[in-house]
Amino acid sequence: MNSSPNIRILPDRAALFQAAADEFVRQANAAIASKGRFTVALAGGSTPKGLYNLLATKAALPWDKIYFFFGDERHVPPDNPESNYRMAREALLSKVPIPAQNIFRVPAENPDAAQAAQTYEATLRQFFPPAEAFPRFDLILLGMGPDGHTASLFPGSKALQEKSRWVVSNWVEKFKTDRITLTLPVLNNAAVVMFLAAGEDKTETLKEVLQGTKPGEQFPSKLIRPTNGQLLWLVDQAAAAALSSQHA
Ligand code: 6PG
Repeated sequence: MNSSPNIRILPDRAALFQAAADEFVRQANAAIASKGRFTVALAGGSTPKGLYNLLATKAALPWDKIYFFFGDERHVPPDNPESNYRMAREALLSKVPIPAQNIFRVPAENPDAAQAAQTYEATLRQFFPPAEAFPRFDLILLGMGPDGHTASLFPGSKALQEKSRWVVSNWVEKFKTDRITLTLPVLNNAAVVMFLAAGEDKTETLKEVLQGTKPGEQFPSKLIRPTNGQLLWLVDQAAAAALSSQHA
């Protein structure tokens, strides 16, 4: 049963990051209390940096029980300024006592993006219980691009059709480059998906994603509806400005 999105509108980015950090800590403590570990797939881009910085300075967590993965990665080495891993490492992973073996980055330095995706999928298959058709992350963080993409699932891109693989490479025409991304079945198998969206450049897209009728193929963030999990949108007032009153 697809849960309807829980939308929280925060006054500004700082409040959004604080709400996201509080949610992250809550989810982590709950998972660790019940299962002894917390698995999270981090989002890339720039918005989550504010959350990661806050977690690095404010959150007192049992870091050794938290396992970090990535929802997607650019097809670049880990020290490249474009790398989502590099951003997360600088903002969070290098600042708290997380054992190195708890961090699973995408081997995006591999010149063959498809092979990098296969390697990452093998890593996930080793970590998650083999019986599961898809891994069930305790939390997947996602952002939303102005074109409605999420992770590296871009409008009209081939990866949107993937129904069985866990990780694929995906050619992104607008950037003329490959990306590596978790697939929709994996994203929609999460216990919790938390979107972070802020800024006026997201206003019209957020209105379409949350309240519009255009196909999800054109706005892939629409296709994120956890089949047996929670969907939480944390947005600031700027991004939410066009939402109709029932959400505002
Ligand atoms: C990436 C992200 C991507 C991001 C959106 C939104 O690799 O860039 O995974 O999906 O979340 O582009 O990015 P911002 O939050 O920085 O606008």
